[in-house]
Amino acid sequence: MSNTVLITGAAGFLGSLLSETLATFNVRLILADIVEPKSPKSSDAVTVKVDLTARESIDNLFKTQFGVPDTIYCLHGIMSRGAEENFDFGLQVNFDSIRLMLQAARDFGTQSATLIKFIFASSLAVYGGPLPHTVTSDTIATPEGAYGLGKLASELFVNEFSRRGFVDGRILRLPTIAVRHGAPAAATSAFISGIIREPLKGIESLCPIGDSLDSPRARARALARQFPLHSRVVCLPGFTATVRDELDALEKVGGKPALDLVRFKDDPVSRRLVSSWPSRFDNTYALSLGFVVDEGGMEPIVRRFREDIEAGRA
Ligand SMILES: NC(=O)c1ccc[n+]([C@@H]2O[C@H](COP(=O)([O-])OP(=O)(O)OC[C@H]3O[C@@H](n4cnc5c(N)ncnc54)[C@H](O)[C@@H]3O)[C@@H](O)[C@H]2O)c1
Repeated sequence: MSNTVLITGAAGFLGSLLSETLATFNVRLILADIVEPKSPKSSDAVTVKVDLTARESIDNLFKTQFGVPDTIYCLHGIMSRGAEENFDFGLQVNFDSIRLMLQAARDFGTQSATLIKFIFASSLAVYGGPLPHTVTSDTIATPEGAYGLGKLASELFVNEFSRRGFVDGRILRLPTIAVRHGAPAAATSAFISGIIREPLKGIESLCPIGDSLDSPRARARALARQFPLHSRVVCLPGFTATVRDELDALEKVGGKPALDLVRFKDDPVSRRLVSSWPSRFDNTYALSLGFVVDEGGMEPIVRRFREDIEAGRA
């Protein structure tokens, strides 16, 4: 019998990449999102259009023809700018619905022989306030935005549900992932992908400010890894790149015409939120678990993204 994996937020950027990656393994997929998710080619998958803020709708995900999932990747959410601008709605999706998901995983999972693995996508936005030069596993998380608050509050519940033996939780604190395919996200960090993606497509892009980057290919591999954890939280490894590093890579790959499509405009909300996030992490723990970080800085990432555009994948 193959494993059954439920992915929430399956129509999103990472959910789609993860579905495609897992479809190459022998797993059955339950793909859930408020937007109808795409089923990856050649996979054993059901897609469910669902609002995950309602417990009754969540329960239906445990009653498909595939039965109770063994693993849940909990990826759905409202991104940082959306959560900051609509505090109550942001918390409803980024915290209340995660708690409902955990409770459902507890109710259905404890009827099964093994606990459900609950893998929660958190964010570097859990950090804020005065930060050390390099964030380590000892750095205390004190978010300065509604998005980071929702993520940290959810992390606490994943931890407690795991400690009580209700689920087998894992928390992945993701850095900002670039280059994002498709439309811009409602994220304060959206410009980090936008200043590469839009100019390479011949479209103007606005840059408010920012600096923490990682690549989607490394991340899809990382999310799909099996890994033994000694702690429930791991900051997935990334590398630090400045906006200047990004623009240099854009110019090398797309030339001056692409670079000239980036405009600079200061946005105080973006500046405040982005500057509250850390840009340097001690990757030792994540690397010791076998996670990888892309070598070579921004240029190979931008080159791969241009190949994706040329191949009609982005
Ligand atoms: N992409 C990044 O750079 C990054 C960085 C740090 C953390 N994360 C986290 O990783 C996860 C995935 O990120 P992403 O970039 O794929 O985001 P995304 O915005 O592309 O996808 C999120 C998905 O959640 C869905 N969703 C929102 N509200 C819902 C609801 N009520 N019911 C059902 N589905 C709902 C959306 O329709 C969307 O498809 C998110 O939780 C995000 O906070 C992402």
